Amino acid sequence: MAMFSPMFARECIERKRDGGRLSATDWTQLMHDYASGRVPDYQMAALAMAIWFRGMTDDETAALMQAMLASGARLDFSHLRAPRIDKHSTGGVGDKTSLILAPLVAACGVAVPMMSGRGLGHTGGTLDKLEAIPGFRTDLSLERARRQVEEIGCVLIGQTAEIAPADRKLYALRDATATVESIPLIAASIMSKKLAEGLTGLVLDVKHGSGAFMPERERALALAQLMVALGAQHGVPVVALLTAMDRPLGRACGNALEVEEAIMVLRGEGPADLIEVTMALAIEMLCLGEVARDAADARAQLEHAMASGRAAERFEPVIAAQGGDAAVVADPSRLPQAAAVEFFRADTAGTVLEIRPREIGLGITALGGGRSRVEDVVDPTVGFVISARPGDRVRAGEPLATVFARDATGVAKGMSALRLAIRIGEGEARVLPLIDVRVTAGGTA
Ligand code: URA
Repeated sequence: MAMFSPMFARECIERKRDGGRLSATDWTQLMHDYASGRVPDYQMAALAMAIWFRGMTDDETAALMQAMLASGARLDFSHLRAPRIDKHSTGGVGDKTSLILAPLVAACGVAVPMMSGRGLGHTGGTLDKLEAIPGFRTDLSLERARRQVEEIGCVLIGQTAEIAPADRKLYALRDATATVESIPLIAASIMSKKLAEGLTGLVLDVKHGSGAFMPERERALALAQLMVALGAQHGVPVVALLTAMDRPLGRACGNALEVEEAIMVLRGEGPADLIEVTMALAIEMLCLGEVARDAADARAQLEHAMASGRAAERFEPVIAAQGGDAAVVADPSRLPQAAAVEFFRADTAGTVLEIRPREIGLGITALGGGRSRVEDVVDPTVGFVISARPGDRVRAGEPLATVFARDATGVAKGMSALRLAIRIGEGEARVLPLIDVRVTAGGTA
């Protein structure tokens, strides 16, 4: 590593500002100096904005990702015989697939070291959902996480301080400087964390549609392709599915409500759209882990794990090992319950044209179940269960959803959010295909 020079970061910013490119050595030096505090936030913010406008070449993105990966520790599972596969979603509303996939896929013989995030803005976060289970802890050390994967085949934790610290710092800075929405920066950020998990394969659920943080299909596809390529360069096969986030996934939206719905799916019950996306992702995980011959074999194994009770049973030791009340699996009524519950009814007859996920997510935050600032504490009990789906014909007065709130004020807020989110009228509901394309290193199909 070259000696630190205060002019070096300035020269890098200037080059990116003018549309030039930085070498792999430059990225390594920059991220090293940034992680150790020698490059100040104001210079890194200027560089992030230059990247936002000018973009990065694929080589630069790979070098940035490598530098962020190298800034921290990695899980070492090289002694384990079992395949290690994780799933990452770019986030949405009602997306509780991680809670289902980890125990389900582990029950089929694939180890799942799953590292997830918290909800921010209108999207929910897996860690908040898990923490709705009384006592559940997601802040395990890497060493404890590693042991749990060896013993139970699955762990669900948050990004620890040891993993990709340069990304952690840069992501917080991007959040504050409106530079999150850059495809190369997102790809490098997500993949630097995922590749630190010591995986043998990775499945990505890249959302598009109005409730996704990358709504445009073309941009979501470009992000998927870039992340698949970054994985391949590191010898980790990655499969990405482009899935719909123009409506919430499943019926439950809100932390404890989503845990309950996830437990239903582990038993093979639950909403059809949630089951379809979960199965598609789980099939990819089993095939990447080479525990299934093909998709049909994977589906048969997964259905058997659900029907036999093995999938739900696998969740119990995971919850217990992480300090939670494992009895919620057999009895979800042990989850924290909202004090005020009320139906939301259609004010007119017609067709449900739209259920806008962004408005639902913001509604959860208004009820106290989401975060506007990182330090906000979330209420696990609040949210919505939306029984209506786009395309349904409804009568005036028919219940479309249920609001779960702390009190009457919360119920009123929930009703307002649902009025904004659910559009009823005449005509056809236009929805995105639930599962669009599949992206692998071999191409997009
Ligand atoms: N999630 C991440 O981890 N990083 C990004 O840049 C965006 C979403």
